[in-house]
Amino acid sequence: MKEISVLVGAGSIGQAIIRRVSAGKHIVLADYSEENAKRTAKTLENAGFECSTIQCDLGNKEDILVLVEFATSKGEVKHMVNAAGVSPSQAPVEEILRVDLYGTSVLMEEFGKVMANGGSGIIISSQSGHRLPALPQEQNDALAMSPVEELMRLPFIKEINDTLKAYQYSKRCNVLRVAYEACRWAKRGATINSISPGIIITPLANDELHGPRAKGYIDMIAGMPARRAGTPDEVGDLAEFLMSSRGRFISGADFLIDGGCTASYWYGDLQYLKATH
Ligand SMILES: NC(=O)c1ccc[n+]([C@@H]2O[C@H](COP(=O)([O-])OP(=O)(O)OC[C@H]3O[C@@H](n4cnc5c(N)ncnc54)[C@H](O)[C@@H]3O)[C@@H](O)[C@H]2O)c1
Repeated sequence: MKEISVLVGAGSIGQAIIRRVSAGKHIVLADYSEENAKRTAKTLENAGFECSTIQCDLGNKEDILVLVEFATSKGEVKHMVNAAGVSPSQAPVEEILRVDLYGTSVLMEEFGKVMANGGSGIIISSQSGHRLPALPQEQNDALAMSPVEELMRLPFIKEINDTLKAYQYSKRCNVLRVAYEACRWAKRGATINSISPGIIITPLANDELHGPRAKGYIDMIAGMPARRAGTPDEVGDLAEFLMSSRGRFISGADFLIDGGCTASYWYGDLQYLKATH
């Protein structure tokens, strides 16, 4: 049987991760945009990787089930990376919750049923989730452990009426859900972790840099400890470690990679952002 690496969201961060862990494996590229998936496949095939593509909307459970079927028909799934998502400037509240909160939770649950022994998963969350204050324990528990079909009906989720909050709760949910799923994935000998990037230059970040919240973004970069945005390859390096044999003692954890931005938001020069972010 071939070993399979699945990437959901064939964008810049996902591509940087998947090429580091997929030499000799077959890569399944799943994306809402078939064009993006095919473009990434072409780039990867020209760099020696073997790929197939499938159109998949992360916010749609049926699509996820078809993806799982497609991937497992090709071999045993060794890696699963979710780097699909929509940002606060790209979509309305319902769409952010559907894709980033609900769909990502379904994806973890369904791949948790088929991962190969020794396999590993990465969920791309965001520094944005680290800007919510600590939630009451019962909200943490609800986000981590509610049956997936109940997530969107949680009262404190139904109350969300701005896109930034929708994104922050979704990304906090991703981190909590990774901890919950790590206990299930372990039964198959697989690990799962999340990575919470700060500003990484990709088409998604460029939408933010030219969208209604552009000034906030530019000021944030100027004020953060690293004084620059990050690159997809830096996220890829971290993911490679977590997914390698050296990362087998790490599961259910979240890793901030943000140039110190979150530290500065809570305790440094960027504290002024608390009023608006
Ligand atoms: N770039 C950043 O600064 C940054 C920071 C923190 C977190 N993130 C997170 O990283 C992830 C990847 O973002 P990126 O910057 O690489 O963006 P990107 O735009 O390069 O890639 C995102 C990909 O996801 C796909 N996608 C969007 N909606 C989808 C859906 N419903 N189903 C399937 N695919 C879908 C897009 O077609 C695109 O190919 C997102 O979850 C984002 O929230 C990005």
